[in-house]
Amino acid sequence: MQLFLDTASIKEIRTMWEIGILDGVTTNPTLVAKEGRKFEEVLREICALGVPSVSAEVVATETEGMLAEGRHLREIHPSIYVKCPMTPAGLRATRILAKEGTRVNVTLVFSANQALLAAKVGATYVSPFIGRLDDQGQVGMDLIRDIVTIYRNYRFPTKVLVASVRHPVHVLEAAKIGADIATMPYSVMEKLVEHPLTDIGLQRFLKDWEKVPKG
Ligand code: E4P
Repeated sequence: MQLFLDTASIKEIRTMWEIGILDGVTTNPTLVAKEGRKFEEVLREICALGVPSVSAEVVATETEGMLAEGRHLREIHPSIYVKCPMTPAGLRATRILAKEGTRVNVTLVFSANQALLAAKVGATYVSPFIGRLDDQGQVGMDLIRDIVTIYRNYRFPTKVLVASVRHPVHVLEAAKIGADIATMPYSVMEKLVEHPLTDIGLQRFLKDWEKVPKG
């Protein structure tokens, strides 16, 4: 399973990249706005670190505009994946961009039928937003289970990128279902690494080591 960071913060990306547990990055207009920096500048810096998959979202709402933005974004770096929204215009743009060889991440997916359509038009990734479903009383993980089943039934090559992840249990459940990727905030990835018993155990080992005769 691949682990992505859902952020536009270079500091956060660099930290996880240097540890060696990061497979990719997803951004969206909200995350980019938080950084207060130019979009392309941020994208170039992320790609320069060597991150092999960096999703960058179009903001046009019509197909022509999405195509123009998508074609521009993909030229920035070979690691760029173009993010198109799950709308009729977004599906049209995805189909055309995919035919041109551009890898497209279809975002804002909230139903299994939407995921089916994204796969049919040639999306490389589909991004179901599970946290936002949980927020309104629907079990987001059920959607992941359905999409994974449908893609397996028809051998769609589209990868399931679990998005809107809020806590480590989301990652655990997604991994058990067999989702391809989970993208998460830095705080969640940190929690995957840490465990209080690891810290307590290490402190005890170091303390006991002081009692071992040296020299
Ligand atoms: C995915 O690519 C989105 O950027 C993201 O996961 C949205 O998450 P949120 O619901 O926490 O905003």
